[in-house]
Amino acid sequence: NERGEIVLDGVTVTKEQLKKCNKIYIVGCGSAYHVGIVGKYIIERMARIPVEVDLASEFRYREPIIDENTLMIIISQSGETADTLAALREGKRCGARIMSIVNVVGSSIANESDDVLYTWAGPEIAVATTKAYSTQLSMIYLIALYISQTMGMLSADLVAEHLEAVKSLPELVDGVIKATEPVMKKLADEFKNIEHAYYLGRNVDYAVAMEASLKLKEVSYVHSEAYAAGELKHGTISLIEPGTLVVALNCCSHIYDKTISNIEEVKSRGAKVLSITTEGNTSIEKCSDYVIYLPAVDELVL
Ligand code: F6R
Repeated sequence: NERGEIVLDGVTVTKEQLKKCNKIYIVGCGSAYHVGIVGKYIIERMARIPVEVDLASEFRYREPIIDENTLMIIISQSGETADTLAALREGKRCGARIMSIVNVVGSSIANESDDVLYTWAGPEIAVATTKAYSTQLSMIYLIALYISQTMGMLSADLVAEHLEAVKSLPELVDGVIKATEPVMKKLADEFKNIEHAYYLGRNVDYAVAMEASLKLKEVSYVHSEAYAAGELKHGTISLIEPGTLVVALNCCSHIYDKTISNIEEVKSRGAKVLSITTEGNTSIEKCSDYVIYLPAVDELVL
């Protein structure tokens, strides 16, 4: 609005309720769960409220600790996933405030939530979610900004800056897709017969790595795994052989060097490394076979 405050249509939670909130659960399945992991990193960073992310199929059976100061963020494209709906009902039964990010208008999850944010991504036609995932990411980011602003932790100027970053995304994504299409085709051809792939990253790169790995499995039937870059050495690195494809995401500047050392570890075992980083990080070329550069944007958007 004109005062620089974020107003979320469909959200009626009061400032007082948010200020009392001492725990946030984010719950979903599949790709929606992966959005939740991004949400944990950005909400904790921006609003300093502890966030726990869980798979709906686990959450509903584990007697989670919930009270009236708990906020539950439910993420679902369809708004009808049975485990997610059951998790919502469990949260509600225990007194949590329910905020949902949903695509399908009037779905069960939307109807049963206290606050609903619609993603307006249009109908999902392919099995593998893509536009719902991207719009859910924008929504979780807006929620993080909203909570942070409500708690008095973000000035109107900073909010405006972050919102500009969100608005610039469609154009940037379009530019990246167009610019990288030829190299992507070449890489797809080179790796079309692989049997395994590993995705590495830290922080939000790790969350995105999980989604990338799921997408590869769903659309190509290639086995793949996502690892927190620093965790690979605790066992799984033994599966990296000469020629194994490792996709390394390295877009968080505060841990860029840490991830570089993890890339060096897989490189020394002979992996073929495709790195994805932001423009200017050319030192990554030393330990990579291929590098895709993304435009440098507000890091919380990444
Ligand atoms: C992956 C995918 C699934 C869904 C999951 C949750 O591409 O589409 O992992 O994300 O089944 O579905 P919704 O969001 O409808 O609850």
